[in-house]
Amino acid sequence: MSFIVAIDGPAGTGKGTIAKLISNRLKLINIDTGAMYRCVALQMLKENIKLDEEEKIKQLLKNINIDLKDDGMVYLNGVDVTEKIRSKEVSDIVSPVSSIKIIRTCMVEMQRNLGKEKDVVMEGRDIGTVVFPNADVKIYLDADVHERAKRRFLQNKEKNIDMSYEEILENIKKRDENDKNKEIGALKVAKDAIVIDSTNSAIEEVYGKIEEIIKRKREING
Ligand code: DC
Repeated sequence: MSFIVAIDGPAGTGKGTIAKLISNRLKLINIDTGAMYRCVALQMLKENIKLDEEEKIKQLLKNINIDLKDDGMVYLNGVDVTEKIRSKEVSDIVSPVSSIKIIRTCMVEMQRNLGKEKDVVMEGRDIGTVVFPNADVKIYLDADVHERAKRRFLQNKEKNIDMSYEEILENIKKRDENDKNKEIGALKVAKDAIVIDSTNSAIEEVYGKIEEIIKRKREING
């Protein structure tokens, strides 16, 4: 039986960092589902496909190859796109792209396959609600929107992504709105999720809480 840790929550709450720590320290495979939606958005930009061009999107999904490496590198159709998927152009369209039903259906199927017979930590928006409703551990990470924008601004600076704090704040607010109101796969707290607010907590503190929860559940599962 595989062991699944689902981490959901809005952008900039520290999901990515926490998932990486869990993966490295507790030996689970890390799957960043946001990176998958970003790959689809990037490929749509590359092929100049509009949001309402369903047939073209279907073709794109048939041919797409997304490879998430253990070290965090992301390959799209064999090409390293680790940095490109974080660009402003992709960030601007990824939320509407992720609202398209055929894209969600395809990504959810890929995600379920990635979690088959493996111990994984999967982070996203709908992991505990849709992708793995029976996940062993469900965490919903939250934080104040200004704190989240600040964190994303500092992350981007490190990665040489040129976006102002105001631009990031606007982008996050818009995405929150869109992500929470999607018809399918909307961001919401699963009934049995444990909610953790990371606004005033250091990442190690948040990690510590989650590690405890995972260890306890592993003991119960035997
Ligand atoms: O986590 P992120 O910011 O890289 O996610 C990019 C976008 O993809 C975000 O707007 C929400 C969407 N997303 C989603 O709809 N479902 C997921 N499981 C993960 C991400």
